[in-house]
Amino acid sequence: MGAIRRGEDFLFNQVYDFVVSRIESNEWKEHDKLPSVRQLSVELHVNRLTVLKAYQLLKKHKKVYVKDKVGYYVQPKDTFMLEYPDHPIVSAYVQKNSLSEIQQVQVEYNFSQALIDPNLLPNHYLSEYVKKVFDLYPKVLSTYSTVKGDEELREALADYFIKQYKTVIHADDLLILSGSQQGIHLVAQTFVKARDTVLIERPSYSPAIDTFKARGAQILSVDITPDGYDLNQVEQYMKLYKPRLFYMNPTFHNPTGYTVPTRQRKQLVQLAEQYQCLLVEDDSYHDIYFDHKKPPPPVYTYDFSGTVIYIRSFCKYISPGLRVATIICQSSSHMKTLLSVRALTDNGSPLLNQKIFLHYFSSPRLQQHLEKLRIALQVRKEIMEKELSRTNWNWSSPGGGLNLWVQLPDNLSTDSLLSKAITHSISFVPGQICDPIKKLPSSMRLSYSYANEKQLQQGLQKLIQIAQEND
Ligand SMILES: Cc1ncc(COP(=O)(O)O)c(C=O)c1O
Repeated sequence: MGAIRRGEDFLFNQVYDFVVSRIESNEWKEHDKLPSVRQLSVELHVNRLTVLKAYQLLKKHKKVYVKDKVGYYVQPKDTFMLEYPDHPIVSAYVQKNSLSEIQQVQVEYNFSQALIDPNLLPNHYLSEYVKKVFDLYPKVLSTYSTVKGDEELREALADYFIKQYKTVIHADDLLILSGSQQGIHLVAQTFVKARDTVLIERPSYSPAIDTFKARGAQILSVDITPDGYDLNQVEQYMKLYKPRLFYMNPTFHNPTGYTVPTRQRKQLVQLAEQYQCLLVEDDSYHDIYFDHKKPPPPVYTYDFSGTVIYIRSFCKYISPGLRVATIICQSSSHMKTLLSVRALTDNGSPLLNQKIFLHYFSSPRLQQHLEKLRIALQVRKEIMEKELSRTNWNWSSPGGGLNLWVQLPDNLSTDSLLSKAITHSISFVPGQICDPIKKLPSSMRLSYSYANEKQLQQGLQKLIQIAQEND
């Protein structure tokens, strides 16, 4: 450590900056003990009082914490988020979408988009339904939909859900959305105020993290593993922090592909009822399963008291262009508030899109399409896994969804790998973006659904080579 320069700045400010720079460069890590006041004053050739004053300011700014009669320690970032009262307000003014920043980069080998290759979607049949819809509803373009969504479509979807899961819902419990991202945003606008606590899985779908942060929520993360959640941790958090809601993606979770087991789904509903925490279940990948193994029924099917708000998207595997998704909300008071906020947003989804979707959704072609799509996606997943098997990287093979969540050796940073990969026209999502507390430096999400088979092989071989050059 060098001596402190005596100049126009207050000395204690320089000591303060010295400590902050050590923390930010990660030289002094979370919970590390800082040098004692005496030790630092000797090393920096300043008065003990100067160091003490700097340490007190660091404590005030929640950069460090004190253990009585033991010393000062580096404050961890996640508790900093929970305890620093101004933080949510600041974040409420910061509008950010980390994922879209990566996705805007045009590349030849695109493993960052959890989208399905348009060649695998039913383009031809959908255009046939466009003609049919104009014949059936000649005034479709001159008509508003209701805010809740087209009644014919809500009836058809309610019938479908009843047949699939054998639980009773009504067309009135449905609210048609323009995509599930709109549903997440709507739920955040409706139920979350600045400083409310929101539980989110770690890792998670990054635009959901950004949406709740932009509302000024205090984010608390719950780890998701191949076995689901640690329900003791969930209960502790619900008891201690009284979260407003738990946003979760329990089926072929994005980014990991994990699925929460049935047993936990039932218990989650009980916990949420007991602690009055809404469960917001995002189910964007339910029908993308492999080897004919259907996932467990959604969490909402275990809910009889209106605790779950279920968001189901059909965008990915039918038509991203139509942007049709739905909310199922069995609490009439929650539905009423959602409708008010939705009316202020856009007064409902375009009727034309809903009608085209309805006619395709109600035809036998949907199931035929899904059967072929599942096989095509499984083939792509296996190609990706075959290329990756030549490395010492780790992942847990998912039973569905569009992504592999891959762990690289600890010495490899996926952030710096991405910068190099982009110069070779390859993109993927570094783990940090999916982490509510912005760590997971050696993880990455690789999507196998957008690139074709040749691009998957070539792109992965290049990516592995770039990573090995830096190992
Ligand atoms: C978990 C999850 N939720 C929501 C969305 C948004 O999908 P959309 O708005 O197209 O329905 C995505 C898209 O990647 C997703 O992965």
